[in-house]
Amino acid sequence: MIDPRLEKSDCSDSIDHHYGSADLAERILTALREAGKDIENLSREDLTGFDEFHAGGLDATREMALFAGISPEDEILDLGSGIGGPARTLASEFGCNVTGLDITKSFCDAARELSRRLEMSDKVKFVCADAVDMPLPSEHYDTVWAQYSLPNIKQQSALFEQIYRVLKPGGSFVFETLCQGPVGEIHLPVFWAAEPQNNHIQTPANTLKNLVAAGLSKINFEDVTEHVLEAARCRLAAAETQPSASTLWLGLIVPYDVQKKMRNSIRNSEERRTIVFRKHFRKPR
Ligand SMILES: C[S@@+](CC[C@H](N)C(=O)[O-])C[C@H]1O[C@@H](n2cnc3c(N)ncnc32)[C@H](O)[C@@H]1O
Repeated sequence: MIDPRLEKSDCSDSIDHHYGSADLAERILTALREAGKDIENLSREDLTGFDEFHAGGLDATREMALFAGISPEDEILDLGSGIGGPARTLASEFGCNVTGLDITKSFCDAARELSRRLEMSDKVKFVCADAVDMPLPSEHYDTVWAQYSLPNIKQQSALFEQIYRVLKPGGSFVFETLCQGPVGEIHLPVFWAAEPQNNHIQTPANTLKNLVAAGLSKINFEDVTEHVLEAARCRLAAAETQPSASTLWLGLIVPYDVQKKMRNSIRNSEERRTIVFRKHFRKPR
């Protein structure tokens, strides 16, 4: 049955309901403190169990940066930046300036607070907004980056038009996303949706059509389904040994059903209901 709070809400309300949770930043800090971390002297390593909100974690972010040829002078826009783990990785390991944009307010608040405590606020900043209506300047970014935020966005054509608008000529759009596989309906809940109205995964053909229609040209792509599946199985095995929701893992930022979402995500990939692609497109000069 559909949650009655969702029937009246618009898209941003239902996404916020799905991902958001009150006092997230405070809960993270409490969990860190209880795990024996010094919250006045945090390191990025203290956050690695939960601040990259995708199956592949930190390694996948590093791989994607190499895949896209990210360089230190790049000005990056991270669409659907979550609590900012990937943005901080790009800033501290690749030297870029990163703007994260996310529709979920509690994620943006947590992203800012964690970045402030890591003394990274000069390299990463966060804007709370909808990716299909970005309050950001045109032709400003060298790279638009998106990890697992596309499956939530219904208006994919409008999104790609916005991405084209904010990219500099010659700029890159690099993303990792789930697409609809050949087998049919996905099992819910999954990380990006508990109800069908938040699930907007598209077929690979439709995604390609929308990218090309927006004016973006294909540079490179990889089917990384098996690779991501392996990482997700490892993450699930680790999660099943976690004693409580307050420990430092994804359960800290996913409000409910985290293990069920993990199991369904794995099953969807194993049954070819979903495929994972990493893609690099470019705006012509
Ligand atoms: C699975 S999480 C991935 C977060 C982050 N990319 C990472 O890998 O750590 C998907 C993110 O997309 C964001 N999102 C969904 N729809 C959005 C929209 N229309 N505009 C901006 N952000 C959106 C969600 O709030 C969530 O933070």
